[in-house]
Amino acid sequence: MSPSDQRRAPYLEALNDYADRIPARLHVPGHKGGPGADPGLMGAIGERALAMDIPALTHGIDVGMDPTPFEEAQALAAEAWGAKRAWFLINGASQGNIAAGLALAHKGRELVVQRNAHSSTIDALVLSGMRPTFVAPEVDPELGIAHCLTPRALDRALTETPAAVGALVISPTYFGACADVRGLAEVAHSHDVALVVDEAWGAHLAFHEDLPEHALSAGADLVISSTHKIVGSMTQSAMLHLGTDLAERIGEDVVDRAVTLTESTSPNSLLYGSLDAARRQAAVHGRELLEYTMAELAAARAQIRAIEGLDVLDERMVGRAGVHGYDPLRLAVDVRGIAASGYELATLLREIDDINLELYGQHVIVAVFGMGERRLSEANRLVAALREAAARVGPDPGGERASFAAAPPWGELAMTPREAYLGPQEIVPAEQAVGRIAAESLATYPPGIPNVLPGERLTAETLAYIQGTLQLGGSVRGASDRLLRTVRVVAEGPSPPA
Ligand SMILES: Cc1ncc(COP(=O)(O)O)c(C=O)c1O
Repeated sequence: MSPSDQRRAPYLEALNDYADRIPARLHVPGHKGGPGADPGLMGAIGERALAMDIPALTHGIDVGMDPTPFEEAQALAAEAWGAKRAWFLINGASQGNIAAGLALAHKGRELVVQRNAHSSTIDALVLSGMRPTFVAPEVDPELGIAHCLTPRALDRALTETPAAVGALVISPTYFGACADVRGLAEVAHSHDVALVVDEAWGAHLAFHEDLPEHALSAGADLVISSTHKIVGSMTQSAMLHLGTDLAERIGEDVVDRAVTLTESTSPNSLLYGSLDAARRQAAVHGRELLEYTMAELAAARAQIRAIEGLDVLDERMVGRAGVHGYDPLRLAVDVRGIAASGYELATLLREIDDINLELYGQHVIVAVFGMGERRLSEANRLVAALREAAARVGPDPGGERASFAAAPPWGELAMTPREAYLGPQEIVPAEQAVGRIAAESLATYPPGIPNVLPGERLTAETLAYIQGTLQLGGSVRGASDRLLRTVRVVAEGPSPPA
């Protein structure tokens, strides 16, 4: 099959055809294409969406012909991103990370992992049973935020972990820093292992030559892509791309099985359809859309820098350790120079003009922009609201020197995440958890990067950091007690008498 017309959206077209035909729907879902639905749902998502909500294994859509529209849609996506094969995912990039972990586990049990990986990567370690060797990303000495992994750090970790079967890195970061993926791929391949790149934030990079090189073209073997984040498919939809590397460090059939294992047998057709449509929009109009959005955001950045006390993170980051490129579709604002934290500013922005941010922390807020912001008014709203907020709270002359609040170093890995997660456990008050082995992940949101992983010893500094984040209005994912009064730890003492 060699699909070439990127203006087509075969899966979406097949759904439309099915809805137009008024077929006898003797299959799920029980709303029967709309008539059986609650009127409130019908009003909310529309008659047409319900008519196109059909199950898997529907003749003419994903079975019954060769290639099916579903296969064609995925082949078009593979072509658009330059992959050997692309899988549509209905449980986000989280599913992609888990599938990647399960696929790698076919090769062995050791993996080099960038420590500030998304929590779904840690879930992959729990499910696959792999033993991670964590590598710290470069931490910006001025900003105090984590950037990417350098090829040199990866080389060291792979040398220290001769049994590793792969390396998992993240690029771009939440803040828009991009790794030297080409260098990382060369290092991984020189150790004869696969490079998996969590490119959740970079699905758009393939569509404009001024953006940093995207991971597949830089030689990555498997790429996790959160298509919904910036390219604009529906929330929860994502893709997994297999690289074209001839060495086949990860087998296509193994990835296929891992995707099947991690997905529902009732995938939502609207999510799939939205992936097909988003791929078409990116492939056909992506360059022009990105051109527009990048120009708008450059103007917004200049306006924000002109506000007293505010600065932005931008291409000035490039060249710092762990920053090879910069993705301008994030608007990260350094708020250290005003008399409000990022948390307080986020509340103020909501009050001023209903501005809802993607991420906010102590010293930085991040606004995310999509590639299809042709009728963009949001950047102007953000600039105006920031101007008003900064005027209200006033400057904080000392603040500019304050560093970003970096999370404390992680604790020692005393057992694999899987052993800790599935082994005997108990719940103890947080103040008694210091020195114990965590049986759960604790990841402060924002930004959702695990501070503690199952299998790691808990430290007083980390527990204090998480509690501080909660007090500032953040939350903690993975914790059995969302207020962290208690922590689930591994039961280490002698077993009680039977
Ligand atoms: C680096 C990274 N990987 C994976 C994910 C998971 O993506 P999704 O929400 O599509 O499951 C996220 C989510 O924010 C992320 O930041």
